[in-house]
Amino acid sequence: MNERGDGASSGRCWLVERRADGSVAGRVSRAIEPRGAAAAGPLVRVEAAGFNYKDALACSGHPGVARVLPLVPGIDAAGTLLEAAAGLAAGAPVVITGNGLGEARPGAFATLLRPPAEAIVPRPPALSARAAMALGTAGLTVLLAIDRLAAAAPRGQHSPRDGEWLVTGASGGVGMLAVAALAAAGRTVVAVSRKPAAAPILTALGAASVVHPDTLGGEPGKPLVRGRWAGVIDTVGGSLLADALRAVLPGGVVAAIGMAGGVELATTVYPFILRGVTLCGIDAAALPTQAERAALWPRLAGLWPRVQPHLPVTTLALDEVGDWAAALLRGAALGRAVVLPAARVERHAINLAGAWERAGDVWRRSFGRPTGVEAGETVRLVFTTPGDASMTLNGVALPALRGDAPAWSHDVTALLGDRNELVLSADALPGAATDAPGRIELPRHLGQPALEIVSHVIDP
Ligand SMILES: NC(=O)c1ccc[n+]([C@@H]2O[C@H](COP(=O)([O-])OP(=O)(O)OC[C@H]3O[C@@H](n4cnc5c(N)ncnc54)[C@H](OP(=O)(O)O)[C@@H]3O)[C@@H](O)[C@H]2O)c1
Repeated sequence: MNERGDGASSGRCWLVERRADGSVAGRVSRAIEPRGAAAAGPLVRVEAAGFNYKDALACSGHPGVARVLPLVPGIDAAGTLLEAAAGLAAGAPVVITGNGLGEARPGAFATLLRPPAEAIVPRPPALSARAAMALGTAGLTVLLAIDRLAAAAPRGQHSPRDGEWLVTGASGGVGMLAVAALAAAGRTVVAVSRKPAAAPILTALGAASVVHPDTLGGEPGKPLVRGRWAGVIDTVGGSLLADALRAVLPGGVVAAIGMAGGVELATTVYPFILRGVTLCGIDAAALPTQAERAALWPRLAGLWPRVQPHLPVTTLALDEVGDWAAALLRGAALGRAVVLPAARVERHAINLAGAWERAGDVWRRSFGRPTGVEAGETVRLVFTTPGDASMTLNGVALPALRGDAPAWSHDVTALLGDRNELVLSADALPGAATDAPGRIELPRHLGQPALEIVSHVIDP
């Protein structure tokens, strides 16, 4: 893709490619020139790109998503048309989802994009590019699933409105938007999440209660258990979907959306033949048509004011794409992420090495909320040259520190309060004093801790 002198960008992208040793890796690159059919289509300046689980798979070179390599991932884009297309004038704000982007042709993790004209839909005026991409394919998929389930619910049986609705993988992008959309439609929603930190967010989005997936596996081996769910939106698959199916009420409806927890489905026919349960597969990439997508976007715009105050949306620059993809594949991400391809990252660090209190092998550090953190900015806890230790922040377990890694970093934005306490447990070095009164420096063998405030700046 040629650079243009229109101020659109300097033509950069996140490029996933196969290395000489056969492994697949990504890096920030100058824009690549699309070839063949991928070169056809109007030019779009990408202002924001949604980050979906599929994009994380593409970043890892998963052959089911990355159909070609090298590849620019990114199945969702919001930006501005630079050439008239799809009945829209140059300068029109647009959204683009699916249609092979980030799979078979260069995707949205780039400053410029050439999507097929039939993929282009006008962006509702109420949605900024970033807001549109906080919704993106995840939001479209949720609306599709809700519509499919409404159409599939058998008449004259249990009404889907009466019972509880289950949403699995609820801390993820699709999960959080499903909780919000179902609650907005008047459903009683039970959100399933492994992450304690997600519970208050899910409640604010409209969940009546939040449960751990382990609570759904009761009476193992029984093909049916007491019916509870009028409807299910499942983003996890595997044993969690199988457990949910056993507890669906007669006439209940289930949408199978994802496979973040596994692709196998060990179930029986009993939910279907004894309770008339309907299992609907949802494929947002194949459906709907351009006209249907154009009709779904105003509905998403209507949902946004309800979602926006509570949905965690992490902003990323291109050089942060690889780390976020890894976090998504580990199931560690919370909410949605949006890539701003033209942004650069500015980091400001607050040193936490001093003022620790020690009791035996336990180290505590209290600190207030960092000042000057603005909406859209991220606060990361970082340790350079960490030692081996376990750690909690405000009672929530963080990934362990490992002495064999040069650095450790974790997004703690959603965990921070006005007063915060970091508690680190580590075996004492042989011969070291076990107690030390007052406030002291954290020993160097445990690492150099800091809070890093990350902001994204787009130069005029
Ligand atoms: N069918 C479609 O058209 C369509 C469209 C969009 C997305 N999807 C699929 O829907 C799924 C969710 O997408 P997303 O964008 O919401 O992803 P996401 O943000 O990464 O969320 C996935 C969530 O699944 C849960 N999870 C449970 N077990 C997991 C495991 N072993 N590894 C990773 N996560 C696990 C986690 O939630 P907790 O920690 O809260 O349990 C995680 O946050 C993905 O499989 C994606 O491919 C399908």
